[in-house]
Amino acid sequence: MKQVLILGAGLALAGTAQAAQKLGEVQPQRSPEQVYSAVCGYCHGQNVGPVIRGRGLPPEATEFIVRHGQNAMPAFRPTEISPGELKALAQWVEKSAADPKEKGQ
Ligand code: HEC
Repeated sequence: MKQVLILGAGLALAGTAQAAQKLGEVQPQRSPEQVYSAVCGYCHGQNVGPVIRGRGLPPEATEFIVRHGQNAMPAFRPTEISPGELKALAQWVEKSAADPKEKGQ
């Protein structure tokens, strides 16, 4: 009986390890344009918050604000925007041209 329990616990642990491994798998990285339109563009360019494109904003500042939030802007975790995605996004925001269709506060 004891052995069965131990075996059961072992299987449960193995299952958890497998699930953890799956979570840790590298997800396909979204392009900066995809992240911007799916996440940032919900507010930026839509009269919620300032326009951030076409201003040459320093990538370090963008990365910091995305991870920590700023006033009305929420923070985004690495599970929501991966480190690689954020790095590419911040560089893209700096270099991207202003979109005349976007409106800011
Ligand atoms: C829920 C709405 C919302 C979302 C989503 C959002 N932001 Fe913001 N963001 C804001 C607001 C509001 C501000 C102005 C904050 C303040 O008043 O200081 C802001 C400020 C910023 C600033 C500072 C701009 C400046 O002029 O100094 C940057 C950079 C920025 N956001 C980048 C991003 C990026 C990149 C994303 C996508 C990952 C994003 N934000 C998603 C609402 C949002």
